[in-house]
Amino acid sequence: MVMSYLPSCFFGALLFVTFFGNLYPGVALAGVTRHYMFNIRLKNVTRLCGTKSIIAVNGKFPGPRVLAREGDRVVIKVVNRVSNNITIHWHGIRQLQSGWADGPAYITQCPIQTGQSYVYNFTITGQRGTLWYHAHISWIRATLYGPIIILPKHNESYPFVKPYKEVPIMFGEWWKANTETVINQAIQTGAGPNSSDTFTINGLPGPSLNCSANETYSLKVKPGKTYLLRLINAALNDELFFKITNHTFTIVDADASYVKPFETDTIFIAPGQTHNVLLKTKNLTSNTKFLMAARPYSTAAAGTFDNTTVIGLLEYHVDNITSNSSINTLPVPPLPPINATTYIANWTNQQRSLGNSKFPANVPQTIQRRFFFTVGLGTNPCPKNQTCQGPTNATKFLASVNNISFIMPTTALLQAYYFRRGNGVYTTDFPNNPLIQFNYTGTPPNNTQVTNGTKLVVLPFNTTVELVLQGTSILGAENHPFHLHGYNFYAVGQGSGNFNSTTDPPNFNLVDPVERNTVGVPSGGWVAIRFRADNPGIWFMHCHIEIHITWGLRMAWLVMDGKLSSQRLLPPPADLPKC
Ligand SMILES: *[C@@H]1O[C@H](CO)[C@@H](O)[C@H](O)[C@H]1NC(C)=O
Ligand SMILES: *[C@@H]1O[C@H](CO)[C@@H](O)[C@H](O)[C@H]1NC(C)=O
Ligand SMILES: *[C@@H]1O[C@H](CO)[C@@H](O)[C@H](O)[C@H]1NC(C)=O
Ligand SMILES: *[C@@H]1O[C@H](CO)[C@@H](O)[C@H](O)[C@H]1NC(C)=O
Ligand SMILES: *[C@@H]1O[C@H](CO)[C@@H](O)[C@H](O)[C@H]1NC(C)=O
Ligand SMILES: *[C@@H]1O[C@H](CO)[C@@H](O)[C@H](O)[C@H]1NC(C)=O
Ligand SMILES: *[C@@H]1O[C@H](CO)[C@@H](O)[C@H](O)[C@H]1NC(C)=O
Ligand SMILES: *[C@@H]1O[C@H](CO)[C@@H](O)[C@H](O)[C@H]1NC(C)=O
Ligand SMILES: *[C@@H]1O[C@H](CO)[C@@H](O)[C@H](O)[C@H]1NC(C)=O
Ligand SMILES: *[C@@H]1O[C@H](CO)[C@@H](O)[C@H](O)[C@H]1NC(C)=O
Ligand SMILES: *[C@@H]1O[C@H](CO)[C@@H](O)[C@H](O)[C@H]1NC(C)=O
Ligand SMILES: *[C@@H]1O[C@H](CO)[C@@H](O)[C@H](O)[C@H]1NC(C)=O
Repeated sequence: MVMSYLPSCFFGALLFVTFFGNLYPGVALAGVTRHYMFNIRLKNVTRLCGTKSIIAVNGKFPGPRVLAREGDRVVIKVVNRVSNNITIHWHGIRQLQSGWADGPAYITQCPIQTGQSYVYNFTITGQRGTLWYHAHISWIRATLYGPIIILPKHNESYPFVKPYKEVPIMFGEWWKANTETVINQAIQTGAGPNSSDTFTINGLPGPSLNCSANETYSLKVKPGKTYLLRLINAALNDELFFKITNHTFTIVDADASYVKPFETDTIFIAPGQTHNVLLKTKNLTSNTKFLMAARPYSTAAAGTFDNTTVIGLLEYHVDNITSNSSINTLPVPPLPPINATTYIANWTNQQRSLGNSKFPANVPQTIQRRFFFTVGLGTNPCPKNQTCQGPTNATKFLASVNNISFIMPTTALLQAYYFRRGNGVYTTDFPNNPLIQFNYTGTPPNNTQVTNGTKLVVLPFNTTVELVLQGTSILGAENHPFHLHGYNFYAVGQGSGNFNSTTDPPNFNLVDPVERNTVGVPSGGWVAIRFRADNPGIWFMHCHIEIHITWGLRMAWLVMDGKLSSQRLLPPPADLPKC
């Protein structure tokens, strides 16, 4: 039952009315304000036979649910009680006019330092489904994450059968070692980071070791009911396949936008993405258990990533007779091969916006600015007095967009921009196209001339944008889940090999393409997206594979204010952290 979601600790709801200006002309939408308090503290947890101290919200791992309805305001006070700097990103929230609340460190805000606090204050506009929050600084998000559940407005129902129950399922990635040590070591040596030890379902790694048998997630269900699973991939570096033995799913939502429902028995979900899926339980007459399993999709070299399978349980509760089937004797659902690239293309092609009169697909039909960005890995020379462990001893790994590896500034870009102190912090000459052209998915040239910089693209308010993201095969082709902050976009086309600007655009879907905030750039291929730059601010765009962000696979857009007051970035809150 949906109502059972309203948290008992829910307090201080104030009723207020907001006018959404140009978005819904003349329509006043009532929403409530929902207050949350996030205390960031250390917590000891036992996983895989060892105890580890992790950074968590309110002593919970995964973190507590943020629950709201479409149209609500959410006010979350974050208090940092750990020795690390913290910021939190509300992944997928549009943040209309509230860029100060977006969260990526040194892009929209300076970090919340030890002992300090910051109030994130934003409304949820035009979105319903599942999103999530996570730390957005270094690799802190390894353990600091949780679900954002956005219910339809009051008196509105889902455009699908009303679920009996709703259950968030968050996939995560677990290292026995401290993840800050893992990433700092990789930065130092220039090597790939040590792979994780296991994946997790709602924080639990499953029975891969004898001692971890009690660390298995179990979804308890009744027969003959429809469950809404809110799937979130919070893993750092891995895209995942997910399956439950003998069951199928109906996909109804992607990244908090409704899709045309489609059936599948195997879900693919990249870091940053969410899916709402319906699971119809069988009409079983006795207690029965099935396994659920997730493991990566990857075209990277074997041994460079965690290829383990995380197991969970689907347990039917029908009567009081305990099923004695041991978890170890149940069949593991057969997942596609780890490198099943054709499965991914097929899966992505099935996704369509619901695109009805109530939830139209507002795909920009005329385009004012076209961009072509290459995305992929590369190398930097090893500093002279060091030994490096990149692809060769003379190099360190790095990653780039249009051959520019993004350097994080030491102050927040949005503050620098707003207070007109951008000089020396960033430049606005990010190129529209790669500076050197080559066969992106063929044999790369010896020197791809990667440079470093903090470069932005400036867009006037309301510009319609088409962006082709072209994967490269430098150091091997990989799928890159690209995430744009502050926007949803439409994924209008994709293909393998090099994008052809003559023959590919006629095949774009400009009618009902899927609307997302995170889309995979196919391994050795390209994806085309469209969006309207109607949200002023500075918006980060990056691969959501965390090691690729670390290596520089990131850039930012500067969207200027429009003429109306509803089209301007509001002034920063008084408690905005300082660097
Ligand atoms: C975690 O465990 C360590 C070692 O037992 C202990 O010193 C520390 O106080 C514990 N921390 C928390 C937050 O419980
Ligand atoms: C949140 O933002 C709204 C709109 O700017 C403002 O009215 C409200 O006072 C803010 N709330 C807090 C707790 O900062
Ligand atoms: C599993 O059992 C061990 C030993 O009793 C305990 O320390 C650990 O917290 C348990 N794990 C979970 C996830 O309950
Ligand atoms: C699961 O599927 C297999 C293969 O289709 C079938 O043999 C088996 O009976 C099914 N089990 C249940 C409990 O539905
Ligand atoms: C289960 O039973 C219900 C009602 O008895 C029926 O409507 C439904 O079609 C059945 N489902 C399956 C999968 O047989
Ligand atoms: C996982 O990777 C290791 C190391 O490359 C390899 O030996 C093993 O066969 C792989 N396992 C699976 C299930 O692919
Ligand atoms: C996938 O991996 C298998 C086993 O390593 C290999 O035989 C096969 O050629 C690979 N397929 C593709 C499409 O790369
Ligand atoms: C693609 O998906 C469709 C629909 O699910 C399925 O029928 C077809 O077999 C799939 N093709 C491949 C190559 O996986
Ligand atoms: C390497 O040289 C640079 C510049 O001379 C210096 O700043 C750095 O500390 C040196 N690093 C090591 C590991 O010696
Ligand atoms: C790289 O350096 C390591 C350790 O210094 C050494 O063992 C290895 O042989 C070197 N490899 C190459 C290709 O030079
Ligand atoms: C690019 O490289 C691919 C893979 O080697 C090759 O099939 C293709 O013909 C090349 N394209 C051009 C334009 O050279
Ligand atoms: C935290 O952030 C501040 C501001 O950028 C910086 O000066 C400080 O070194 C950081 N502290 C840690 C522990 O990273």
